[in-house]
Amino acid sequence: MQRLERPENLLEVAAEAARLGGSVLESRFGQVMEIRTKSSPIDLVTEMDLKSERTIVEHIIRHFPTHEVLAEENTHGDGNRGSPYKWIIDPLDGTTNYAHGFPFFAVSIAVAVNGDLVAGVIYHPPLKELFTVIRNGGAHLNGRQLQVSATEGLSRSLLVTGFPYDVRNPPHTNLEYFIRFTKRARAVRRVGSAAMDLAYVAAGRFDGYWELTLHPWDLAAGVLMVREAGGRVSNTRGEAPDIYKGEVVASNGKIHGEMLGLFGAEFAN
Ligand code: IPD
Ligand code: CA
Ligand code: CA
Repeated sequence: MQRLERPENLLEVAAEAARLGGSVLESRFGQVMEIRTKSSPIDLVTEMDLKSERTIVEHIIRHFPTHEVLAEENTHGDGNRGSPYKWIIDPLDGTTNYAHGFPFFAVSIAVAVNGDLVAGVIYHPPLKELFTVIRNGGAHLNGRQLQVSATEGLSRSLLVTGFPYDVRNPPHTNLEYFIRFTKRARAVRRVGSAAMDLAYVAAGRFDGYWELTLHPWDLAAGVLMVREAGGRVSNTRGEAPDIYKGEVVASNGKIHGEMLGLFGAEFAN
């Protein structure tokens, strides 16, 4: 039987890998680079997404050669299926921002054991902010413990959301919800990195976040982080979130019910 790794060891390697990936991204930030499109004309991938991912995955498999890796750009293939350990990696979350020289992007890495998220990191290279989390061990920012905000009431809340790359093709646009929330919250932002959005909820910088069409690598580390910072995470019906289903509502807990209410069909614009 395989020896169980301590979550602290997993986190240490995740943090090292995130910093390495972050340095790769920083090395070309703001410079012209090769950009291609993926699922739609607005879904970009740069050569730096791929370089960051190769660097991260190499570091992880050097330490844990038998672990499974699920990385967005699939540079490594999907070897080691069946390992209880799964590393879930977004080597550059916020590619559009990165490609335009807008410094809001991150590396996100999480580890699941037998399907349960146990550790994660979200690293924001421009500010050198390393958000870390261990299940039952709290969430931290550069070593300082994180706590979600204490804001009560949607009308006093700063929210954030995002839109999918098929935003031009209804019905999955999220635009109707954007209108509903904008009319009720203090303000709603769209900054362009799901991982950072979740890390900022954990840090109390945003009071709530929702998005409808995400991937496991956008969500894994951040979902655990919000929970460990005392917040609540669900799908739009208030059920336990499934990172493989794409939908998320994350908040400080106090405004969660009000947020969920706005997904009800009874609300007109
Ligand atoms: C995207 C960002 C964005 C979100 C999109 C994601 P990528 O990830 O997280 O904020 O709105 O849904 O796909 O493509 O930059 O890794
Ligand atoms: Ca992403
Ligand atoms: Ca990405």
